[in-house]
Formats: sequence, C-alpha cells, structure tokens
Amino acid sequence: MAFLSFPEGFQWGVATASYQIEGAVQEDDRGVTIWDTFVRQPGKVQNGDTGDVACDHYHRFREDVELMASLGIQTYRFSLAWARIYPFGRGAVNEKGLAFYDRLFDALLEKNIQPAVTLYHWDLPQALQDLGGWTNREVVEAFAAYAKTAFDRFGDRVTRWITLNEPIVFTEMGHRTGVMAPGMRDIGAYSRAIHHALLAHGRAVQVFREGGYRGEIGITNANTFYEPADDAPETAAAVERARDFDTRLFHGPVFGKGYPASVVKHFAERGVPLPIQPGDMEVIATPTDFLGVNLYSRALIQPANNSVGFTYAPPRLPLLPMGYEAAPHALGAFVRWVSNEYGRPRIYITENGVCDNTEPDANGVIDDVTRQELLRGFLAGLHGAIADGCDVRAYYQWSLMDNFEWAFGYSKRFGIVYTDYRTLARIPKKSAEMYADIIRRNGLEA
Ligand code: BGC
Repeated sequence: MAFLSFPEGFQWGVATASYQIEGAVQEDDRGVTIWDTFVRQPGKVQNGDTGDVACDHYHRFREDVELMASLGIQTYRFSLAWARIYPFGRGAVNEKGLAFYDRLFDALLEKNIQPAVTLYHWDLPQALQDLGGWTNREVVEAFAAYAKTAFDRFGDRVTRWITLNEPIVFTEMGHRTGVMAPGMRDIGAYSRAIHHALLAHGRAVQVFREGGYRGEIGITNANTFYEPADDAPETAAAVERARDFDTRLFHGPVFGKGYPASVVKHFAERGVPLPIQPGDMEVIATPTDFLGVNLYSRALIQPANNSVGFTYAPPRLPLLPMGYEAAPHALGAFVRWVSNEYGRPRIYITENGVCDNTEPDANGVIDDVTRQELLRGFLAGLHGAIADGCDVRAYYQWSLMDNFEWAFGYSKRFGIVYTDYRTLARIPKKSAEMYADIIRRNGLEA
C-alpha cells in the first residue's frame, strides 16, 4: 500500500439533483415537472415512489449544508429546478423560487463550500413538455432564457456552471426506451431530442460568454467505459460503434468534431434524421471551459447483427444492485480515453459513486464496505490518470445522501450519508468517514 497524494488544489465534492432530494413539489409556486407527471403513472416507478417529499432538502437544506461542512466538503454540485424559477418553463419568473436558491448559495458560501450548479438535471417543466418538450426546437430558446436568468441572479456567487446533466440518458431513456420521464418510445422523438438538447447546451454557453459572467461553464455527459469481450478485430470495431452511439454522440459535437457518421446514417436510414439547421453545429461547438465526466461502470462489448452493430457481452465482474459491474478500473481508464480523444480538456468528475444498500446494524452503524472498497479503487485509478497527464481538477461523489433514484424509487441507495425515509434523519455511513479522511489528507492509501 502506498499513499496516493492528489495534486495541490484538487477539489473534493459531493453531488445531488433537485428532483432527487428537494421534495416540496407544490411549495412556493413551483411548477409541475415531467417527473411529477411520470411518477403518477402506474408501474413507472418501483413501489409507486415519488419525489413529493424525497429528502425534504427544501426545508432541511441548512442541516445538509452543516453536514457537508462537518465532512470537509469543498464543493457541492446540485441542480436548480427550472420549474421553481419558471413554473411554466418560460414567461413569468417566480421570485420565491429564486429566493430559495439565494438562501442555499448563501448558506454554502458561509461554510466556504463552492457551489457547482447544474441547470438541467431532468426535471423539465410540464408546460414545455405539453409543447413537445425536447422534441420541439422551441425548448432551446426557453432554456437559453432560463440560463440567462440564473446567470444574472446567481452569477455573483456561482462560478461553476454545468448546462445539462447526461443528455444521453434523458434523451434516450425518456424518448426511445421510455423508462424515464416523459416515457416516450419513439425513435424520431429521440433523434430530435438529441439535437435540441445539444443546441440548448450551446446556446446557454453563448449566453454565458456574451454576458461576460465570471467563472466557467461546461457540460456533463454520462459514460460507460467500453471494453472488448475478446481480441477479435470485429470486436474492436464493435467497441468503436458503441463509443459512437453513446460517448461520441454527445462529446463530438461539443468539441467541434460533429456527430459520428455512423449515428447520422443510422437516424437518416430510419427516416428520422437529426434535425440539423445551418449554423447549429457552430452553436453547439461554442468553446467550453471544462468537461464534466460521470462514470459508474464499464461494459463488455461484442459484435451483433442488429441495427447498431454491437451488444453487451455477459458481465464477468461482480454485479452491483443496479445490475452493472463493479469495475473500479473504469474511471481512470475512461478519463485517459476521453482525454486523448478530445485534446486533454480540463475535467471534473461530476459524478462517480456506488449503489450499496447496506442498512444500519444493531448499533445503528452503516458499514458500507462495498462502497468503501470501490471508492478506493476508483480513486486509485483516477490518481493514475492524473499522473499520466490528464487534467482532472475535482471529484464529486454521488451522492451526499440516499435519494430518489428515478425509476428505482428509494430502493437503491447511493449516499455516503444514510437517509432514514421514515424520520428523514441523515446518518453518515462509514464511507462518509472515509471520504472525510481522504479530503483531509488530499489523498488515500491504496
Ligand atoms: C444520474 C443521477 C443518478 C446516478 C445514479 C446518474 O446517471 O445523473 O441522477 O442518481 O446516475 O444512478
């Protein structure tokens, strides 16, 4: 075992998202979102769970900020609920919604915790969905206007902005597979949502630049590290196809490399071309300051005779409760790959974490050994990637506390702090102690 020391100034954080923790869905004139609608459709969310109360963070945010301070957290990534600020997505702004986030920013800054703000983490105002949501190009200007309001109001206190969280997930699972809000199953809707999401990102970056706001802006993509199931050349080609359809689809346009040709062809052949208009690709490629990387696992890929030319091979590593592999090497490996592919951008790991459903023992102690072990492995890999020259400057653990895990409801626990959903008490797990120690020492034994 050696002590792995992280670079001076490296930042340690935790991450959450509005619908997953806030609750208070009808308070202070918050508008209805697509998740409020989705959770009420029978069979969509495990156990019929909803985010109506969630962690009740809306009322307990001061306690949560104290908790973060006690763990030594240096930066906190969370999302604004668009529908608190614009209850109908656009039009009249809601002062009470803005005021809530004012209070939160002030509480964080008082404890020297730097906010990192995601503008969109999947809770689209229902009023915009009623117009087609991400499938309607009008959403782009609504997002740009909402972003401007956030920059104007909070730009004096927020210097790290993330436009969108994981567009691959909310476009594909929301529009093609239908397992997330708004629950559509339509490849044409998926194609339109992809392009409009990226365009909305680009417009927000433009607005940020034009306004001359302080600080930095980027996008957060979801990633899986793809590895070949065997050494055959066809398998290597299948891995590249998987990267096209997942990773390059959302990184390529942002970094000025455009959409992968294979993906463009795929949609065109199905009569649902990406709805690109002249000038769009330049907007999407407006330079950003950093890349947000979310990563939880890897997948083994093999060739397939299907529409995309690849499929997942059977897993070989132990499985986590989410159904994917426990693959701590995936973080460092992906960071190396993405860093090489896109010219060594500045990277923040905006999410990485472990689903570990350990409950309190007889003494109330939550010893989440799987999370602790994997966290060590993920960070050791990340340390290696930094040593190899990748420009990684911050790491956010998902999540501060157990919360509403989308279609899985409350059945999956990702927190380093346990949420008791009966009492709403927050109880730090063993992993929280371990993380606090890593922060204190800016490194770990591994
Ligand atoms: C999402 C989070 C989610 C986490 C764990 C990420 O894809 O951004 O909202 O809770 O993964 O599944």
